Amino acid sequence: MCGIVGYVGMRPALDVVLAGLKRLEYRGYDSAGVAVLADGGLATAKKAGKLLNLEKELAERPLPTGPTAIGHTRWATHGAPTDANAHPHLDNAGRVAVVHNGIIENFARLRAELAARGHESASETDTEVVAHLLAEEFSSCADLAEAMRLVCRRLEGAFTLVAVHADEPDVVVGARRNSPLVVGVGAGEAFLASDVAAFIAHTRSAIELGQDQVVELRRDGITVTDFAGRPADVRGYHIDWDASAAEKGGYDYFMLKEIAEQPKAVADTLLGRVDASGSLTLDEVRISTSELREMDKVVIVACGTAFHAGLIAKYAIEHWTRIPCEVELASEFRYRDPILDPRTLVIAISQSGETMDTLMALRHAREQGSKVLAICNTNGSTIPRESDAVLYTHAGPEVAVASTKAFLTQLVACYLVALYLGQVRGTKWGDEIQAVVRELSRSSQDVERVLDTMEPVRNLARSLADKPTVLFLGRHVGYPVALEGALKLKELAYMHAEGFAAGELKHGPIALIEKDLPVVVVVPSPRGRSVLHDKIVSNIQEIRARGARTIVIAEEGDEAVAPYADHLIRIPATPTLLQPLVATVPLQVFACELATARGNEVDQPRNLAKSVTVE
Ligand code: F6R
Repeated sequence: MCGIVGYVGMRPALDVVLAGLKRLEYRGYDSAGVAVLADGGLATAKKAGKLLNLEKELAERPLPTGPTAIGHTRWATHGAPTDANAHPHLDNAGRVAVVHNGIIENFARLRAELAARGHESASETDTEVVAHLLAEEFSSCADLAEAMRLVCRRLEGAFTLVAVHADEPDVVVGARRNSPLVVGVGAGEAFLASDVAAFIAHTRSAIELGQDQVVELRRDGITVTDFAGRPADVRGYHIDWDASAAEKGGYDYFMLKEIAEQPKAVADTLLGRVDASGSLTLDEVRISTSELREMDKVVIVACGTAFHAGLIAKYAIEHWTRIPCEVELASEFRYRDPILDPRTLVIAISQSGETMDTLMALRHAREQGSKVLAICNTNGSTIPRESDAVLYTHAGPEVAVASTKAFLTQLVACYLVALYLGQVRGTKWGDEIQAVVRELSRSSQDVERVLDTMEPVRNLARSLADKPTVLFLGRHVGYPVALEGALKLKELAYMHAEGFAAGELKHGPIALIEKDLPVVVVVPSPRGRSVLHDKIVSNIQEIRARGARTIVIAEEGDEAVAPYADHLIRIPATPTLLQPLVATVPLQVFACELATARGNEVDQPRNLAKSVTVE
């Protein structure tokens, strides 16, 4: 939520900041703004709507150039997405500019105090109070970093702040509590951003800021302290993907590129996980094997698409390890007083590693003495940093708001964790584990084959562009796949879409079926649980008899479903538990094409942001 960029160095700072904002626009696109330090003063521009509006504004009314600038792309929390509420926000004298990601919970009280001291507010945002407070503190200490520390100690909530002051033209100051902020280290220049994508074109050397830290950037040095001013330990790391990974690479949308990257993402996530003797070696897992053997329950916490990965993981974990597994929406978890103890293994799944609901759930679990294992795609992000162990998915940067390749790699990671638990606890023999790993390794080619046969799915999607509703049905692991298909359609095509467990049909949802209603059905393999297969064939017959237009996803060679399918989408035969890896892909393509046909913004659906850093 909200993208932040700061720069100080020898390049024209505004150009660096605008290019960075372009890369971060996926984080929020309600409004955008910049502030440049030049000619002894502060020049700003900000506009409601996408970054393009700001660029037009800057083309008509250019700002002066200078070596220091900050910028922001917003996902609105306090105050509507208007020009006035866009960041940066200034103090009354126009000497301080600040951009912010997160929520300042005590802003109403702070604003009242500021008003009593004569400050006038120019916006409805919580952010603006910070600009006024910084100006007050700076007037007595004449040091922006110190002013930031003093202000941060008075703020409640989650925030990333980046500020500049006209009296310190070669300084950018940032602060972090619970929201992401990364430092890019260049030669004679430095960057601050919510995500490394903003500066990857200039440097691959980064520092992840810890909680409650303030960073001061100058051309010749970076200083990090805690909010009390004590020097902090700084951990640098190398960013192992390059600028081209964050580009569209010839595709119309990032989502199309990311769907196409799935075979590689799946293969990369499996890379290096099996040692020469055939055993799984998840060396990022820093929970001892004896502790893992003692676990008597697994609880998975996640949101949205990652939650659906967790629902699928439950089937594999329980089947392969015989440990009871619960899957819970992270946003609900800590509010229901869950039963947790040191023998509960909590698995937190998150692409971004910054989702606040998931972060809060894992903190709650650790407070209760449980160990947390994170499955995450973002190196050095908050969720893996705060976990006892981490298994990184190697999907590469996912820029489109709708998650695709991250989902498939989350599934792979979940299967690996389940197999690893089976190995450690002795519920799976070595040869059984190796057989599943071989199947998993094949899935990359299977996904490739699915991608090669998507033209009829695209044609079908276009033909349904004017339908108001699409339903999705599945059983067993096909049920979470149905939920995921419906979520993708909602968020991208803005259509009413629901996913149901097919067995629930007769308990209510069948009343929704009417003539020509498109219903997508994910059919389990007839070679696996044949009873499930037979049952879903009956479900298809039942809805077809009531007029539904059936869109059936079934494995190659499954002829029993063919007579009841108005549209048949074939997927390669896989073991039952691994079917989601191939069955999800047509649903991603379907939603992407429907969104395009309806003229929607595929990469940046309305009201959404990629990284949800507020609860
Ligand atoms: C949907 C989607 C979201 C995310 C959810 C969790 O396409 O992308 O539902 O899955 O916001 O995000 P992460 O995985 O970053 O915690």
